[in-house]
Amino acid sequence: MRKKIILITGASGEVGDALIKHLSKDSNNHIVTWDLRPLTKNIRNLTTHIEGDILSKTLLARLVSEYEIDTIYHLAALLSKSSEFTPEMAHEVNVGGTLQLLKMASEQSQWRKKSTQFIFPSSIAVYGLPDLESKQLYKKVREFEWNQPRTMYGCNKLYCEVLGNYFSLYYRQLAQNQPVTVDFRGIRFPGLISAFTVPTGGNSDYGPEMLHAAAQGKPYVCFVREDTRIPFMTMPDAARSLVMLSQAPREKLTRLVYNVTSFSLSANQIYDKVLEYFPQAEVTFESGEKRQSIVDSWPGDIDDSAARQDWNWQPLYDVEKSFSEYLVPNIKQRYDETS
Ligand code: SER
Repeated sequence: MRKKIILITGASGEVGDALIKHLSKDSNNHIVTWDLRPLTKNIRNLTTHIEGDILSKTLLARLVSEYEIDTIYHLAALLSKSSEFTPEMAHEVNVGGTLQLLKMASEQSQWRKKSTQFIFPSSIAVYGLPDLESKQLYKKVREFEWNQPRTMYGCNKLYCEVLGNYFSLYYRQLAQNQPVTVDFRGIRFPGLISAFTVPTGGNSDYGPEMLHAAAQGKPYVCFVREDTRIPFMTMPDAARSLVMLSQAPREKLTRLVYNVTSFSLSANQIYDKVLEYFPQAEVTFESGEKRQSIVDSWPGDIDDSAARQDWNWQPLYDVEKSFSEYLVPNIKQRYDETS
């Protein structure tokens, strides 16, 4: 019998780190991870790791020959900044990788005669407001509003949500034998902040970068204006939300993709929070037109009431707790240890 596993792709990224820690608390979970890079030392012994390209058909074949795949957390993706430099490659990885895994999830579902679950992290980047007046007017954007992304990453995420919906509801709809469908569920994340990892390749990176720089006593040049506002959430809450959505009874779900968030702050308000804990922090604001316009197109806040209603979503860390209980103590410890 093949061993039943949870597969996490893109596992050595920031969300992967938090998700592995979260899922491995339950010893019944057998986790297999897949990433181009090795896992960091602190999580290496929690999973069986496959190192290699997410597009590799050989690795995929090896995976399905060895395991029964019950749940997939498909985290592998190029983020919104990196994707703008290599848009075709981003499309290949972000869309091609997702399509290949959705097909695999569908085959697994037939073979097991039970849906394989496909949990997909999407992003605030699927939204695109045309100008600051609209951003001011639409303060809390709902899932179905402003789905007009301005980045390749946003386009990829939005399309993959649609693909997931298709695989969940209509894949092989004209086939004679109706297939068992994939159980696709997606979450649109705001900017995420971790105490343990620093992001690369995203456009919401200024939030975490500001804090990590302050904790190391380094000056920081922020690439957006002081008044730039988007929502944020801590990394443990991001991992928790993915697992909560996975565990929600299917019949409670009124949609397949949900916004989740915790707090919305302007860049200047983040700086003020950082100053509360690191009074020496030095931040200058030097907004570059190009990245600024991407962040300006993202909503100032997102409405996560559907997630709250359908599967009792609530962040553990509001803005105060995020800084005082999670971010600051862990970041201080991290840099104290390395200094
Ligand atoms: N944090 C991501 C980025 O900046 C948005 O999902 O690309």
